[in-house]
Amino acid sequence: MNIFQWEERYDIGLPEIDAQHRTMIDMLNTLYAAKKSEQARQVVEETLDRLLYYTTVHFTDEEAAMQKLDYPHLDKQKNEHETMTQQVVKMRSRLQQGDDPVVFELLNFMSEWLKFHICESDRKFGDFVKERKQQL
Ligand SMILES: [Fe+2]
Repeated sequence: MNIFQWEERYDIGLPEIDAQHRTMIDMLNTLYAAKKSEQARQVVEETLDRLLYYTTVHFTDEEAAMQKLDYPHLDKQKNEHETMTQQVVKMRSRLQQGDDPVVFELLNFMSEWLKFHICESDRKFGDFVKERKQQL
């Protein structure tokens, strides 16, 4: 059982960004599996930290693509990425302090956030690129 089941509607039509989203979804599912099967705390923390690192790489790449094409909603995207990161960093520090169940909270939060963000915000960027017939 996955926490985030990929569906076609999560593709925004930009292969590089779509591939990164799929990697994030895979990593969320890997973390969920590690936590559910009660892997050692160190394994859970390392899996989580790989996900968080990849998330920052993805946001940086996505924002760079938007910048390159003078995307008018770049600031809104940056704010959304930033707000999400701050929430997750807070949960990460709760885990550090011994709050083990916070991992499930984090997984739910990130999964729901990502579903909404891809379908609403990132899709708008995909449409923008397609309308302009531009290349990333
Ligand atoms: Fe985004």
